[in-house]
Amino acid sequence: MSELDLGPAAAIPEGGSKGYHSGSELLFAVKKGGEIYLYRNSCPHVGIPLEWVPDRFLDPSGALIQCANHGAQFTIEDGHCVAGPCRGQALEAIAYTLRDGHLFAQIDV
Ligand code: FES
Repeated sequence: MSELDLGPAAAIPEGGSKGYHSGSELLFAVKKGGEIYLYRNSCPHVGIPLEWVPDRFLDPSGALIQCANHGAQFTIEDGHCVAGPCRGQALEAIAYTLRDGHLFAQIDV
């Protein structure tokens, strides 16, 4: 297990999302209701990153995570795919800790 410092949690906008590229790791976070949800940035449909526009991982309503490639939609809270070509699958949640205002991802290596 290794720990990646993703920077200040305050950099993730409330009701928005932020992408991270650290070494070979692609991750993204969503902040909703003050809670942070962290996932690997890999769509279960084809295994490619979800976003076309940097830091934009949500649908226009901000209620669901959306893959820009073929439109799969996922719940923010558990990454479960509720619509699109990978319905029933899920994003890989990444454990994290918050320390001194920074988000640290716990990555299996
Ligand atoms: S790669 Fe995400 S919906 Fe196809």
